[in-house]
Amino acid sequence: MKGVILCGGLGTRLRPITYSIPKQLIPISNRPIIYYILDSLVKAKVNEIGIVINDNEDFFKEVLKGYEDKEIKFKFIQQSQPLGLADAVSVSEDFVKDEDFIVVIGDNYYELDLENLISDFYDTSSNCSILLHEVDEPYNYGIAEVKEGQILDVEEKPRNPKTNLAITGIYIFDKNIFKACKEIGPSWRGEYEITDGIKWLLNNSYKVTYNISNSLWMDLGTYNELLHVNQHLLSKVNPNNKGLIDEKSKIVGSISIGDNSKIFNSIIRGPAIIGSNTIIENSYIGPYTSIMNNVKIIDSQIENSIVLDKCSILKISNIIDSSIIERNSTIVSNNSYRKANTFILGKDSNLILY
Ligand code: DAU
Repeated sequence: MKGVILCGGLGTRLRPITYSIPKQLIPISNRPIIYYILDSLVKAKVNEIGIVINDNEDFFKEVLKGYEDKEIKFKFIQQSQPLGLADAVSVSEDFVKDEDFIVVIGDNYYELDLENLISDFYDTSSNCSILLHEVDEPYNYGIAEVKEGQILDVEEKPRNPKTNLAITGIYIFDKNIFKACKEIGPSWRGEYEITDGIKWLLNNSYKVTYNISNSLWMDLGTYNELLHVNQHLLSKVNPNNKGLIDEKSKIVGSISIGDNSKIFNSIIRGPAIIGSNTIIENSYIGPYTSIMNNVKIIDSQIENSIVLDKCSILKISNIIDSSIIERNSTIVSNNSYRKANTFILGKDSNLILY
């Protein structure tokens, strides 16, 4: 079975970070979101994977080179514009050919067992199988009505949901989905919805089944959701030190420190992860902080945050909390008598001062 990960889209809710990094590549606990999806696919022995993108092919290629399992074969599939999930599935037809395939949307965090979904798809001779999950706010998702192992109906983000069974964004299809996607028109939100493609299969007597999962699944559409999954992943971090910690520093809890990083006269309270070639000096790093490579944190305090490559945080004595700091950013305080603030912010920046 081939795999297709949908990585197009604009990531509007995660701007300004998504102006410079596709949301599927944002690292949480120092690994890009897409790596966790690849983990599930590899575990289910899906090794030939199409990545649907609108642009940023070089960026994706570079990041995917770093994925630990080198056996996977990647194929980039261009979708000209983010016209909807059904369009994203349609453009993968040449890659998939006549095979059955599993589709995973690229911006969610899953801890799901795909093996059962795949084996049930074959055991029930389905044309399509969907992974569902119970949710509290069903109107934010595609929703399914089910009976005795079969899907009766599906609806995309309904105003009055008939069930709380959300479509998780993991689907298995046979080639009939391509026929379905050609038959549907755009929805009220102007997108070609895969939910409408599945509805077409149902209306044309194809067999659509489902599995219900209760493992962790989170849409990563907001900063709070990113920080929440970061906390979850850091709570499982294995202590590991490949760097240097001087005798004036104090390390408490689970901390992973990468190659050649140096900690001087600082307190690090885990769980936390620090990448390679990073310097922390006279600083406090609090729980649930992920710091990537080549970062400098000097005379500063930070907790429950994500700091990407090559950032500098200098002389920030108020704790930086619940923050996501994109690559190459500098935050510095000059401690002068005149208490002023200077900001150079990109479009859609979000700055909260207390
Ligand atoms: O999160 C689960 C939900 O995902 C399901 O419950 C819905 O039924 C399903 O339609 C989908 O809804 P979203 O509105 O959250 O989808 P979103 O636009 O965020 O796109 C999901 C992924 O697919 C994301 O990685 C971007 C990618 N994508 C999106 C579009 C619109 C593409 O590759 N191409 C596209 O044209």
